[in-house]
Amino acid sequence: ATEETLVLVKPDGVARGLTGAILARIEAKGYALVDLRLVEPDRGRLEQHYAEHEGKPFYEPLLEFMMSGPSVAIRLAGNRVIEGFRSLAGATDPTTAAPGTIRGDLGRDWGLRVQQNLVHGSDSPESAARELDIWF
Ligand code: CMP
Repeated sequence: ATEETLVLVKPDGVARGLTGAILARIEAKGYALVDLRLVEPDRGRLEQHYAEHEGKPFYEPLLEFMMSGPSVAIRLAGNRVIEGFRSLAGATDPTTAAPGTIRGDLGRDWGLRVQQNLVHGSDSPESAARELDIWF
């Protein structure tokens, strides 16, 4: 069924000039851009977005990284787009993400700094609804 998801081109993707390349893959797949904006999130917005990760060892570095520059927030629609975009993005760690995926083809090996993995995609319909409200 047609559904919506939140995609973020994270600060590393924007800073490296990969927004266009990432959007090209999303559009080539046939997903529809419903809304798109450049956002410089404050800490409060990120605390909401990453609430489930509070207390984990990567939580603070992740927030610092996400405040290091603008992200592109995308409201994306398509048939099973939540699962489909995560497949397009590839595994969380760009070091091991499969070739053919955004992270596998464009992500760099950042050692322990796994938070720099170019994109975010909601992981369930509940997360998508919650996260779209935070960013739009
Ligand atoms: P994302 O899918 O946006 O949601 C949680 C983020 O936390 C994830 O992408 C990574 O950026 C980051 N992350 C997840 N696991 C780790 C980890 N083990 N070390 C560092 N960052 C992580």
